[in-house]
Amino acid sequence: MDLPLEPYRIRMVEPLRLLPREERMKRLREAHWNVFRLRSVDVFIDLLTDSGTGAMSVEQWAALMRGDEAYAGARSWEAFQKTVREALGLEMVLPVHQGRAGERILYTTLLRVRGGRVVPANAHFDTGRAVLLDRGAVPLDLPIPAALEPRRDHPFKGNMDVGALERLLRERGGEVSFVVMVLTNNTLGGQPVSLENLRSVREAADSHGVPLVLDISRFAENAWFVKEREPGQRGRSVAEIAREMLGLGDHFVMSAKKDGLVNIGGFIATREPQVYEELAARVVLEEGFVTYGGLAGRDLEAMAQGLREVLDEEYLRHRVEQVRWLGEMLEERGVPILKPVGGHAVYVDAGEALPHIPPEQFPADALAAALYLESGVRAVGLGRLAFGEPGDGRERPELLRLAVPRRTYTASHLSYVAEALARVVSNPSSVKGLRLKWEPRVRGVGHCLAKLEPA
Ligand code: F0G
Repeated sequence: MDLPLEPYRIRMVEPLRLLPREERMKRLREAHWNVFRLRSVDVFIDLLTDSGTGAMSVEQWAALMRGDEAYAGARSWEAFQKTVREALGLEMVLPVHQGRAGERILYTTLLRVRGGRVVPANAHFDTGRAVLLDRGAVPLDLPIPAALEPRRDHPFKGNMDVGALERLLRERGGEVSFVVMVLTNNTLGGQPVSLENLRSVREAADSHGVPLVLDISRFAENAWFVKEREPGQRGRSVAEIAREMLGLGDHFVMSAKKDGLVNIGGFIATREPQVYEELAARVVLEEGFVTYGGLAGRDLEAMAQGLREVLDEEYLRHRVEQVRWLGEMLEERGVPILKPVGGHAVYVDAGEALPHIPPEQFPADALAAALYLESGVRAVGLGRLAFGEPGDGRERPELLRLAVPRRTYTASHLSYVAEALARVVSNPSSVKGLRLKWEPRVRGVGHCLAKLEPA
């Protein structure tokens, strides 16, 4: 595959520093072997997350200067609302400071208004799952079976198992509060959902009168994959596909730190006026007035501009190619990766790479620590430490996620990452398992703060 050519040039630089190996060892110990606890200045290439870590464009920086900081009815709010209406077709929108605030407000409101406790999804993201657990609800993951086999190729591994959803609705329909589809599905590998699957989920939910929530944090990447992979979609624009996808939802939550191309921000939206009233009241109480929702006016301007830019197909082509290129370099070097490569990240099958480390010694997190030690590269473990022991008896894959920030790193950075990880994986016995020393008592998100030590 050809080198992915960056469709941008760099006009402001942020120096990077690679610490000597002994220093990295020291920092890792100080961080209790949990890369979330490292200082950014001690990290050379940071692939911890694609969330809020991207670079804004010239137009976004210019938009910041237009920020109207009026408490109510600011011009920046109007610009934001206009963009969400025009580009996404969502009429009733409320800004929030980031995605999880939106999940908290939307999910809590729907549980109260709708009743029911069971909330099926293609696979919940951890903050969504955590807030549902916190409210006494029961999050269920109903991915298609192929999604649980890391090496199996399938164009739409983000799809929901519609048969399983229909069974659930038939047998326990009264208990189901709402259905969630996460686009793209982060938990299972940044994998897209097809339009066809989304339509079927919509029909199943409709036939039982259950609303459909779309988590659209990476909607543009999802729409790009639909254009690339779904029969009959190639001739359409990504913007058109995105609008059709969003047309299938009732309620929406967005972390704009991803496909909003901003460093902070998010929003919720609904098509039901009554739900909007409830949501608006919660936003005032928990985030701020309905026309700013915990953000500065300038943040709303940058978000509006970002939502337009993210649908630029030259941007999206490079975005998806860059991530795929990293995946292919890893594969060529013998690193087992989740296939196909997702939209925002490459997921490495740490369980397969480190067969000598049992799941209770957190192979994904052990690999994250080893990669930092080898190269100063930070990635994140998504396995038993993050998700807990599997309740359903099905072992989840132990994955190391290399998330690529948007418009931030060049091809040479990514090739450095691939070389480094290949070195670690080619010598697996050098990687030791980890043991949990301390974990905070928050269900679902404790892994970011956990303290570990070599087992
Ligand atoms: N939904 C999805 C699909 C996400 O990936 C995230 C965050 C959220 C909601 C919550 O949004 O961070 O703005 O509060 N994902 C980040 C990640 C943290 O690293 O994947 P937030």
